[in-house]
Amino acid sequence: MLCQHYEHIHEGADSAFSVDASNITFGAGCLAEVGDIARSLGMARVAVFTDAGLVATEHVATVLRSLKVAGVDVALYDDVRVEPTDESFKAGTKFAADANVDGFISVGGGSVIDTAKAANLYSTYPAEFLDYVNAPIGNAVPVPGALKPHIACPTTSGTGSECTGIAVFDLLEIQAKTGIASKMLRPTRALVDPDATLTLPANVVAASAFDVLSHALESYTARPYTQRPAPTTPSARPSSQGANPWSDLGCTEALRLAGLYIERAVADANDVEARHQLMWASTLAGIAFGNAGCHVPHGMSYSVAGLVRDFQPDGYPLGESMVPHGMSVIVNAPSVFRMTATDQPGRHLEGARFLGADVSDAAPSEAGDALSERIIELMKATGMPNGLNGVGYGSDDVTALVNGAINQRRLLDNAPLEIDEQVLTTMYEGALSYW
Ligand SMILES: [Fe+2]
Repeated sequence: MLCQHYEHIHEGADSAFSVDASNITFGAGCLAEVGDIARSLGMARVAVFTDAGLVATEHVATVLRSLKVAGVDVALYDDVRVEPTDESFKAGTKFAADANVDGFISVGGGSVIDTAKAANLYSTYPAEFLDYVNAPIGNAVPVPGALKPHIACPTTSGTGSECTGIAVFDLLEIQAKTGIASKMLRPTRALVDPDATLTLPANVVAASAFDVLSHALESYTARPYTQRPAPTTPSARPSSQGANPWSDLGCTEALRLAGLYIERAVADANDVEARHQLMWASTLAGIAFGNAGCHVPHGMSYSVAGLVRDFQPDGYPLGESMVPHGMSVIVNAPSVFRMTATDQPGRHLEGARFLGADVSDAAPSEAGDALSERIIELMKATGMPNGLNGVGYGSDDVTALVNGAINQRRLLDNAPLEIDEQVLTTMYEGALSYW
């Protein structure tokens, strides 16, 4: 039997997909390998990027020790902002340029890894800040060539940033998140040490896990690559190339693991098996969305995070209003999948089944509700906010949220259905509260 992607190649659409992934080492204790790997990549003086909350932890100490043993000079930058901005990207870039390094090592969550990617890019190929930023907000100028080697060491089981060529930030002048997307930004190596997640607060584990879950669901239900217009040149094929047989592999296993382990990993920091398995799910989902791309829940999340007023979640920096990335995504997801299921009911039903729902008697017309209900069940069980109301938004905010998301075309155009302002409005309205 032919794969379903090959049965429906649309006129003028792409007929091939690319397989890109970071070169990954996964396993307990592998952070200590960083010095040897840095040496093997020819690094003699590196910028180590981390944040103030991590700099005194054993994870950073392990990395610094390993680099010292390997004889690699270090310039330490611990001023990465959680949920970075254009200003914090510029500060990281200035540090990297002044430090005169030949490589980058990032130790932290997605904010840290993304900041290292941006600092690597702008210090290697200086440009006006908006030049490399995604259109239509930025100029989407292609990255001119290879960057300096970058070893990413994630300490949360969520963003998958170690596997992707995407760097996300808040553009302060428009109060919304946007990003830079280029295969050149993908880290050279990733060291994924699941022990790094054992000290994370429950709320951070939960938010990160729902980011993983949504990466996998969005990649699995993204517009198939066979429906995306063929690129003008082979090198112009985007990383967000749509659902494809390679990304499907990572999505299905990531969803199965997320369905099995989210509740356990959040409930008990000592449940090593659950936290390790979530880290593996995060890696698989990262590979998947790095090759397929996310769609509407992530597109909507950018204004949910960017327009925050006074929401302050447990487990994150005190005194700072923020909607953590995974929360800003998952509050939209049930509402989105209810609507996108009309396009690909089979994949939505499978998504619900992979997450542990019994859909044996569900009809295709029930696919959206089945998937949404399973996500809501997991959100309730792990203390996630009850939709947009739960992070401080009401129906009066829907127009502003739509305005902040409508320009996220890289993500919205990767959806299985056409997304215009009316559809987005309905999706935000449906996400106000779930229970
Ligand atoms: Fe994400």
